[in-house]
Amino acid sequence: MTAIFSHFEHDHHEQIVFCSDAQTGLKAIIAIHDTCLGPALGGCRIYPYCDEKEALQDVLRLSRAMTYKASLANLDLGGGKSVIIADPLREKSPALLKAFGQAVERLAGRYIVAEDVGSSVEDMEMIHEVTGHVAGLSSGGGDPSPATARGVLMGMKAALKYQRGQGSLKGVTVALQGLGHVGFALAEMLATEGASLKVSDVRSDVLTEAKERWGAEIVENKAIHAVSADIFAPCALGAILNDQTLPALKASAIVGSANNQLARPEHGDMLHKAGKLYAPDYAVNAGGLINVAHELPDYGGYNAEKAYQKIDALYETMLAIFHKADHEHISTAKAADLCALERLNHQKTISHALSAAE
Ligand SMILES: NC(=O)c1ccc[n+]([C@@H]2O[C@H](COP(=O)([O-])OP(=O)(O)OC[C@H]3O[C@@H](n4cnc5c(N)ncnc54)[C@H](O)[C@@H]3O)[C@@H](O)[C@H]2O)c1
Repeated sequence: MTAIFSHFEHDHHEQIVFCSDAQTGLKAIIAIHDTCLGPALGGCRIYPYCDEKEALQDVLRLSRAMTYKASLANLDLGGGKSVIIADPLREKSPALLKAFGQAVERLAGRYIVAEDVGSSVEDMEMIHEVTGHVAGLSSGGGDPSPATARGVLMGMKAALKYQRGQGSLKGVTVALQGLGHVGFALAEMLATEGASLKVSDVRSDVLTEAKERWGAEIVENKAIHAVSADIFAPCALGAILNDQTLPALKASAIVGSANNQLARPEHGDMLHKAGKLYAPDYAVNAGGLINVAHELPDYGGYNAEKAYQKIDALYETMLAIFHKADHEHISTAKAADLCALERLNHQKTISHALSAAE
């Protein structure tokens, strides 16, 4: 049996639910890390994990990051995530999604599901047939990727402001890895702002399109982190900042959407010592979460203008993290953690005081 409480990714998670359904073959895990700021909102990842251990590790780590992300983004939401162990191309079916939706419904609003890797707006519509605890619907914010890209753009402007005193992207070179949902939207925004692009992906069709559309320079995927650029934007894989890539990094700032960019926490300190400005992933990629959160009843119904105002405020959040790191002589990764914990701990103190007074 896989140990839970002693698991290295277990961080006092409030609730971990193992969901199964014999008829549809559903095998899913919903992890609720912390609900002190509000109900746990997080995506449903549908992925053919090698085994249950791997799925558990992923959901524990991802749900914890959602707590920090929501706290830093100043949302009244907690952190949660879910995984369905299945190949989204072969095994995803309406029945499977509805069986999962019923598991979400049983949690009575403690967990709100949205899109993630392997799941789509259409899947959320399907889940919505059996539970109301869904965000990222076409009637609301829909696909969170453009909103995530917008937040990353704001993070880049904040990095330039911090480093150079002005946040314009005109004439700035960005090395972008991964032209998927977020990366493609981001590249479009960067080209509009007058930035030059160097791009890599494993799909040749998007590379050709990037060359034709924006005059982007195509770079071999293994070398994208090492090309000369002002900003490196990882928008594909996790663990891209590691022992091998760090010494070769040319860009002075790293600002991208990919989750879990640091292979190990120490890589945050290594970047700090090397004088590289790292925009902590869960802070700078919060645009999508902010957008879907605005669909919830507490926000009074989806309003794109209000949502994007809050996404643009990531500029200030990122600047605050950079300055905190500077003043306290710590890495930006540590500064982001401290900012997120500050709000969480403040709320926990209030909650404890209130329950003691009852
Ligand atoms: N979509 C969102 O709103 C959102 C929000 C927060 C974080 N993220 C994170 O941002 C990253 C990108 O998300 P997405 O939704 O654009 O995913 P996606 O799957 O649409 O895009 C990923 C892109 O990376 C490319 N890719 C895959 N392996 C690669 C490799 N080895 N080298 C270079 N390119 C490679 C793929 O071909 C694809 O074009 C992921 O890490 C995701 O977890 C996304």
